[in-house]
Amino acid sequence: MPRINPLLDQLADYPMVELERRKQAVADRGVRLFDFSIGDPHEPTPEFIRQALCDAVPARCGYPSIAGTADLRRAIAAYVDRRFGVALDPNTCVLPTSGAKEAVFHLPLLVVDPAADDRTVVFPDPGYPAYQRGALFAGGHAHAVPLTGDHIFRPWELPADVLARTRLIWLNSPHNPSGAITPLDDLKRAADLCREHDIVLICDEAYADLYHDTPPPSLLQAGLDGVLVLHSLSKRSGMTGYRSGFLAGDPSLIARLRKLRSNPGLAPQDFVNAAAAAAWSDDAHVAERRVTFSAKRALLRRFFQDAGFDVHGSDAAIYLWVRVPEGHDDESFAALLLEHGVVVSPGGMYGVEGAGRQYIRLALVPTLDEIGEAIDVLRVALT
Ligand SMILES: Cc1ncc(COP(=O)(O)O)c(C=O)c1O
Repeated sequence: MPRINPLLDQLADYPMVELERRKQAVADRGVRLFDFSIGDPHEPTPEFIRQALCDAVPARCGYPSIAGTADLRRAIAAYVDRRFGVALDPNTCVLPTSGAKEAVFHLPLLVVDPAADDRTVVFPDPGYPAYQRGALFAGGHAHAVPLTGDHIFRPWELPADVLARTRLIWLNSPHNPSGAITPLDDLKRAADLCREHDIVLICDEAYADLYHDTPPPSLLQAGLDGVLVLHSLSKRSGMTGYRSGFLAGDPSLIARLRKLRSNPGLAPQDFVNAAAAAAWSDDAHVAERRVTFSAKRALLRRFFQDAGFDVHGSDAAIYLWVRVPEGHDDESFAALLLEHGVVVSPGGMYGVEGAGRQYIRLALVPTLDEIGEAIDVLRVALT
């Protein structure tokens, strides 16, 4: 019998894998599905981005470099300057990634020493599941911090003994699943705390451009020392299948990351990099997508609020985080909706210590028309 990493059996299937199974069972009964589960929006990738990719496929495609193309790094630095007013050296402060998820998973490898007592990675709970998984596979100790109320994670409230053991803290703003935005003062306070304790602070800003009213700030605005941010083109530019994102921040950390990532050869393809350069250089398509997501959010939010539900925050990102009604938990309520063909994620999927069990998450991925039809189905399901 081959001996495999026990974590693979200890951890439940990645939550989305399990959800796919349940969905398929209902679809097999011939029920029409309105799928609000996985954050993979239905709108097409803008034409100019697809064209940039096609134009960049050469007759011979050699290995890409870990550092990415100079064009892409420049486009990213220009975007960060336009969007957050932070000047970055594209050659030392920016590193393209193959989407944000692999970076979330691999980043603990940068800091975790599996033999050390201080090998803790701290992250918000509920939160994106890869924070925990990356920490564990790197041999770290995963420390989930329950979020309540406004769902904003304030690392300065961590006990001193946890801080003493911690090497990496994850922030996520705008937050998946709640859509909460961490204010700049809090980002600065978290950065100061981490500098004081020699902890690397990384803010996952995958939804930074998908807001409804006020543009969320970036951790980069708190200075580069000891910090990194992670961005993604997946939802911002409708490029989930391209797998493209970037890390930016402290040049000494970026240099170490280049070294680390050359081991598995984690480098996005150059034709993807060309499409990414086009996407980061254009703000107009993102503004259009914001209008689309805001319209979807308004429609669905109004429905749930009129029906007496508590729709939490959801100030940014592409989700509604809805409190389940009396007499239900996340699983039972999601199962009820699924019976009618409306697929939502039980909030517990995003939690480690039972966080999220009072919520369901709806990803605003169906089109506006589909959401209108889904609301008719929801009306029936909820009577
Ligand atoms: C908070 C957060 N971070 C990272 C990711 C991964 O994004 P990508 O598609 O770039 O891998 C997601 C995807 O849903 C996310 O919600």
